[in-house]
Amino acid sequence: MTSRMMTFFHRLLLMLDAEVAHTLVITLLKGYQWLLFNILRRRMPSLNKGCSLPVFSKLNFRNRLGLAAGFDKGAEVFAALAQLGFGFIEVGTVTPKPQIGNPKPRLWRHPPDALINHMGFNNCGLPRFKKNIEKYRRFVPGVPLFANIGKNFNTSLTEAIKDYQALLQSLRPYVDAFVINLSSPNTPGLQSLQSTTFLDQIAAVAPTDLPILIKLSPDLDNKTLLELYAQVNATKKFNGVVVVNTSARLAQSLYQAPQGGLSGRPLFERALECVALARGVLKYPKIIVGVGGVSSAEDVLKMRKAGADLVEIYTALIYRGPQILRELSSVLERLPS
Ligand SMILES: Cc1cc2nc3c(=O)[nH]c(=O)nc-3n(C[C@H](O)[C@H](O)[C@H](O)COP(=O)(O)O)c2cc1C
Repeated sequence: MTSRMMTFFHRLLLMLDAEVAHTLVITLLKGYQWLLFNILRRRMPSLNKGCSLPVFSKLNFRNRLGLAAGFDKGAEVFAALAQLGFGFIEVGTVTPKPQIGNPKPRLWRHPPDALINHMGFNNCGLPRFKKNIEKYRRFVPGVPLFANIGKNFNTSLTEAIKDYQALLQSLRPYVDAFVINLSSPNTPGLQSLQSTTFLDQIAAVAPTDLPILIKLSPDLDNKTLLELYAQVNATKKFNGVVVVNTSARLAQSLYQAPQGGLSGRPLFERALECVALARGVLKYPKIIVGVGGVSSAEDVLKMRKAGADLVEIYTALIYRGPQILRELSSVLERLPS
């Protein structure tokens, strides 16, 4: 596929309903993944600089830019996505049982650079998720795979730990790291699990042989964030944080959205602030994954300067298409490892 064809196809996608466009991309990537896999391998930046991070000592990242959770919820297309040039991919959020998520419509574009989603963990469930990883993993063995895990809608908050425990145990042989999602605004009550008590429960059931990262909300006040960061820092089983998830507060204040979380450029300053706060607390070898509104090479640099070890994108990929990887590759290649 030439760059012009890719641009044309991307423009076409932006004319469709946002969720229809996403489903179409996943379907095409799934159906034609091996064709695309081979074309992309030749066309996209290789970004093969390589770095290793202290907690991920067994892993080699070809670069520090990853795809954020929520794009490949079912671990169906990560092999093709890896060929775009990402250094790692976060798949999920997966829940133990499959679920259809919240009623549609539940994904809205706010051009030029924001999205609001109220998806509610629509996903294929743990057994299918594992099968997909088994099927596709061998094609991209060198690209670290993070599993983002969450609780089912119908699981009560008091039983939530059982969902996380089942996912941690069952997915251990399949992935390189876990991201514990306690911060989606689209599952009622989930964010109340962002507490020192629940982090203790997670630590009690977490495996010792894989890195565990905690994903937090930008809507927490700084005092709470600092408390949670301090606990992650003090708990041996935790290896760092992913900051941030989408913001319900910004969705309401900027777009009067009654539900859902905002992603994209308007989230960037708050995401940066959360990363900087984390860096003040989390000490070597704990790591920080910075995510939220990263849309340019300059943003990647800012995230890195604020203290992010790894950086992720999602919304910028939707608005700018795979071409954004080229732009970001220029700065990633210049970054010291
Ligand atoms: C449509 C959509 C679905 C998402 N689904 C998930 C999810 O399942 N789990 C999760 O942890 N984050 C999810 N996110 C949040 C992203 O992983 C990321 O934290 C957020 O979008 C901020 O990054 P961005 O501004 O680069 O998009 C989702 C975001 C979008 C736009």
